[in-house]
Amino acid sequence: MKVDVLLGLQWGDEGKGKVVDVLTPNYDVITRFQGGPNAGHTLEFNGEKYVLRSIPSGIFQGGKVNVIGNGVVLDPLLFQQEAEALAASGHDLTKQLCISKKAHLILPTHRILDAAYEAAKGSGKIGTTGKGIGPTYTDKISRNGLRVGDLLHNFDEKYAAAKARHEAILRSLNYEYDITELEAQWFKALDYLKQFRLIDSEHVINNYLKEGKSVLAEGAQGTMLDIDFGSYPFVTSSNTICAGCCTGLGVSPRNIGEVYGIFKAYCTRVGSGPFPTELFDETGSKIRQIGHEYGAVTGRERRCGWIDLVALKYAIMINGVTKLIMMKSDVLDGFETVKACIAYKVNGEETTEFPFEINEGIEPVYVEMPGWNVDMTKMQSEDEFPEEFNAYISFLEEELEVPIKIVSVGPDREQTIVRYTEE
Ligand code: GDP
Ligand code: IMO
Ligand code: MG
Repeated sequence: MKVDVLLGLQWGDEGKGKVVDVLTPNYDVITRFQGGPNAGHTLEFNGEKYVLRSIPSGIFQGGKVNVIGNGVVLDPLLFQQEAEALAASGHDLTKQLCISKKAHLILPTHRILDAAYEAAKGSGKIGTTGKGIGPTYTDKISRNGLRVGDLLHNFDEKYAAAKARHEAILRSLNYEYDITELEAQWFKALDYLKQFRLIDSEHVINNYLKEGKSVLAEGAQGTMLDIDFGSYPFVTSSNTICAGCCTGLGVSPRNIGEVYGIFKAYCTRVGSGPFPTELFDETGSKIRQIGHEYGAVTGRERRCGWIDLVALKYAIMINGVTKLIMMKSDVLDGFETVKACIAYKVNGEETTEFPFEINEGIEPVYVEMPGWNVDMTKMQSEDEFPEEFNAYISFLEEELEVPIKIVSVGPDREQTIVRYTEE
């Protein structure tokens, strides 16, 4: 068997959590392979709403195995809060959830460093989620990180050395902080974490594949936030792309199966950084209002704009997407016309290739199509799709050269239309 990957093609928040939950019944194992509690994945079913941050979105469907892979960065305290909230609502994860010993730990001082670096950047700040993601991956790459497996041997010594190093940096930045309370809670959370199965996940996952078990890997963030191919430096600190699944799980590229690329029928971004199709007018506010475009965890206002096919094609290329999933189509239900950016004008020249420099001077070139003006939220099958919506889908499939397999018409698990099933 191979690992199917589901990942975001835009700037995150495409609706990954919802679709992973919908697809989970088809899989034996669900994994996360990068990112950490910077993610906020929302699931809605039976009138309940859950937001997951470090825990895979496969935990709600019938006792499947869920794995937090080596590429993830884990904050034990946020993890405890997330898992305890789930336990309180009747979802005890201790038997279902395994954590890689090679996943890196987010220390209390990583969170402080994240804030200190942002403060030092002033108006050039990235607008991070403040969860210590950048500093933790920095320590991983500079070979100073602490891993989940380190909890099992001489942890206090390793922790003290890391903390001393971080404190020296914070002193050099003249950054004031007090971690006494946070640190005490964090240490308590380590004991909580140890109740879970801490595993060599690369072996476990490859063994599952050998046994014929099916595995779904759930991306976090989105391709345009990838450390290599996103809108650098306004990106996150991990490889959010398909290749990140190989390094973040220990799976060979030859063992990647379907690559599901998920996108919204429009586009959003949270935090700073370039966004060529951003709308600053009433249309942007209307999308934000109808789409409830506010951060799942932070509540931050998301910036909104029309769909950007230049960026989408780039993301499809980088990831080798085999199937597309379009989310939040219903949000455009009440628009007379909808627009799609098909090219960028850079210094007067048109290009359809995503350029190196996207920080300034990009003018989107749009096509405008008739809207569908029909409430799609109760539709059950594509036979009910209005003609204009079918035309929109055909246009996107032609431009993107990949079929749109799933269309989502609302936040609930049930509001999902699978357009065709596998041969
Ligand atoms: P993720 O980070 O990719 O999992 O996405 P988020 O959970 O951060 O953001 C997606 C938001 O859109 C959540 O509030 C979902 O409940 C909601 N959502 C998902 N699919 C749809 C849809 O098809 N229509 C509408 N209206 N909302 C949706
Ligand atoms: P999900 O998985 C949207 C953004 C932050 C910031 C930049 C860097 O829910 O789609 P970081 O804290 O990672 O160092 O922040 O990346 N960002 C996200 N935006 N969805 C996310 O996750 C994000 N995770 C990080 O807003 O601009
Ligand atoms: Mg999100």
